[in-house]
Amino acid sequence: MSTTLPAPPVSPTGELRATGTLDIKDSRTSKAYSIQILEGGVEGDTASRAMDLRQIKTAPEEFGLMTYDPAFMNTASCKSAITFIDGDKGILRYRGYPIEQLAEKSTFLEVAWLLRNGELPAQSEYDSWVHDITYHTYVHENIKTFLQGFRYDAHPMSMLCSTVAALSSFYPEAKNIHDPVERNISIIRLLAKLPTLAAFCYRHIKGLPFIYPDNDLSYVENFLSMVARMSEPKYEANPVFVKALEILFILHADHEQNCSTSAVRSVGSSHVDPYSAVAAGVAALYGPLHGGANEQVLRMLRRIETKDNIPDFIKGVKDGNERLMGFGHRVYKNYDPRAAVMRKSCHEVLDALNKRELPPLQLHGELERIALEDEYFVERKLYPNVDFYSGLILEAIGFPTTMFTVLFAVARTVGWVAQWIEMIEDPSQRIGRPRQLYMGPAQRAFVPIDQRK
Ligand code: ACO
Repeated sequence: MSTTLPAPPVSPTGELRATGTLDIKDSRTSKAYSIQILEGGVEGDTASRAMDLRQIKTAPEEFGLMTYDPAFMNTASCKSAITFIDGDKGILRYRGYPIEQLAEKSTFLEVAWLLRNGELPAQSEYDSWVHDITYHTYVHENIKTFLQGFRYDAHPMSMLCSTVAALSSFYPEAKNIHDPVERNISIIRLLAKLPTLAAFCYRHIKGLPFIYPDNDLSYVENFLSMVARMSEPKYEANPVFVKALEILFILHADHEQNCSTSAVRSVGSSHVDPYSAVAAGVAALYGPLHGGANEQVLRMLRRIETKDNIPDFIKGVKDGNERLMGFGHRVYKNYDPRAAVMRKSCHEVLDALNKRELPPLQLHGELERIALEDEYFVERKLYPNVDFYSGLILEAIGFPTTMFTVLFAVARTVGWVAQWIEMIEDPSQRIGRPRQLYMGPAQRAFVPIDQRK
């Protein structure tokens, strides 16, 4: 095992600078307040500290003003130097590098280093990073027993979530999150073992024997080997699949403060070990409005069944009875830049496999055409997102739909650990604890059961 550990990660860039003031007059008291406008980062994001509003009150004993922001539509919960998104312009960059360039020129593990450390690796750094991740792919034998306890029809995301959480019991020293050496080894273990756990989940639902990692293979090839190898002594992956998965993993590696990343940061803010925090990310990703959407796209296509049923389905969407899965995004109100790359990759895979003419793929193309032209979708800026295409690629490769989100989780683990360590090293972070607006009854006296109506 190599003893070379990656360089310590970069901390979030710079401090927020005061660049102006926001003058507020409280109509209840006629008092005026001056709240600083802060600017940070190279993209000129501006914000004010929510805590500054607390001074605005009508009486000294009052709690003070809060902001009300369900679903965090306009609240920054951290400073981050990892991923930049401009949803209106359709821009996504990892550490400043455009996603399109990384998808074309980089490998997944190179991107993993970049996200975690802030810079592209030098050759020697990359070699030892790949070596370390390759040599931590094996899991404790008891994990197999643990997985065998699941029913044959268990959803692989439930299995993955529980197994990632269980890793914390195999590495109890991971709870020393203030020790940089422990943090590093936990990160390497998570990146190394996620493909093994994902492949084991697949083999379990298929009733196939578990295949151990092959350390001669690349990250993606080894994953495919653990998924698909049967009696052959050496697995040779289809290069078209390897390239498509490499791109899919890069595109899914991070997406700043999305639902699952916020879950990892929130759970991690309690200073629990990173395995438990990442398990929270897996749970959040499972939801159909997040990572579960690629699975839902395929289910939707199967449900629509034929082209003739599309108008009825679209009517159902417009009437609010259906959602067009794989369309729309909280931050992209323009084309999702990952979807453009994924669309190209999707067509390459389908061409290589001669699968362009299959019925679900024709439905897919027709829905894409309608949604891009129809006023309902155009007006609401509902463009295809990354999940609209990723499901098709995975279906063409031969993964069952229940595995789609599992592959997303393997890739997103990179972003989760990069965001987790950035949070742990940021002195301004404390345990996450949102406020609420209490809407329940005021104080009232307890009523004994025999006197209740
Ligand atoms: N199909 C039909 N209508 C939609 C869709 C959709 N997929 N998405 C949004 N809308 C409509 C809403 O009904 C709403 O219409 P209204 O103004 O008439 O009420 C309007 O567009 C705005 O939608 P919101 O729900 O406010 O958008 P929000 O930002 O909250 O939701 C989300 C984003 C959850 C991604 C949503 O677009 C959706 O459910 N999409 C389908 C699921 C999906 O593909 N998720 C994957 C996201 S990418 C990822 O996680 C990797």
